[in-house]
Amino acid sequence: MPLAAYDLTGRSAFITGSAGGIGRASAVLLAQAGATVHCVDRDEKGLLETQEMITRAGGAAHTHHLDVTDRSRLRDAVAAAGDLDILAAVAGIMHTSSVLDTTDEDLDRVLAVNFKGVLYACQEVARSMIARGAPGSLITMASGAVDAANPGLLCYSAAKAAVVQLTRTLATELGPRAIRVNAVAPGWIRTRMTAKHDAEQQDRTEAAMVRISPLGRVGEAEDVAHTVLHLASDASGFMTGQILRPNGGVAMPW
Ligand SMILES: NC(=O)c1ccc[n+]([C@@H]2O[C@H](COP(=O)([O-])OP(=O)(O)OC[C@H]3O[C@@H](n4cnc5c(N)ncnc54)[C@H](O)[C@@H]3O)[C@@H](O)[C@H]2O)c1
Repeated sequence: MPLAAYDLTGRSAFITGSAGGIGRASAVLLAQAGATVHCVDRDEKGLLETQEMITRAGGAAHTHHLDVTDRSRLRDAVAAAGDLDILAAVAGIMHTSSVLDTTDEDLDRVLAVNFKGVLYACQEVARSMIARGAPGSLITMASGAVDAANPGLLCYSAAKAAVVQLTRTLATELGPRAIRVNAVAPGWIRTRMTAKHDAEQQDRTEAAMVRISPLGRVGEAEDVAHTVLHLASDASGFMTGQILRPNGGVAMPW
């Protein structure tokens, strides 16, 4: 490892949503950097594929098949994983409906997965870090949706805004225990989620994002995984409570 600050040898990471997309790319990259990864998802087949990718490359991966909205299953998985140094709470879903058409069920489902699922994972992993007096890094997955007004994305945007506030609050509460908490707010990244969105909405969001990006492209899951690696590693040792934006420059907030 030429850059020691990025070396995760001997560290252990719990990564939700790692059966595909950004979570899988993050699990693969953190394993390449030396971490033992605990891959968590409700998609068992995808989880096993991720594990196979990691072990074939010589890395160490365990799988935990569960729904992140099930706090007791999550707690058991954290206990089974043992000493954890890193959490990447990536699991999420997208839902599209106008505000006037949004039902209680829509709101409850998106908040349950995208906000409560992140909250539960942060709580369980942080408690385990605190119990052993270890430093750690918690990484949450927000979205570029928090930087814009998004027609049709009320539930998703509200849940992601709540994730940002969770991140800031936790950063202040856990900083004195040497646990850093940061959010990633990706722009448009090519995954199953965005492919499904464009197909269902008969939308051209991807093409529009390419047009407005100064870099002239949308992102790949690996672009976000490198941001996750940065936040997981000692390279970001003086960062907490921040939002990092791998977004191709489509938004440039202060
Ligand atoms: N793709 C993008 O453009 C983009 C942009 C901003 C933020 N994000 C966020 O990044 C995260 C990953 O998205 P992605 O694009 O890789 O999508 P994806 O659909 O490829 O991956 C999401 C993963 O989460 C898992 N998951 C969903 N609900 C779950 C649940 N209740 N319990 C356990 N696992 C569950 C899915 O099975 C899947 O493996 C999400 O939180 C998403 O909101 C994505």
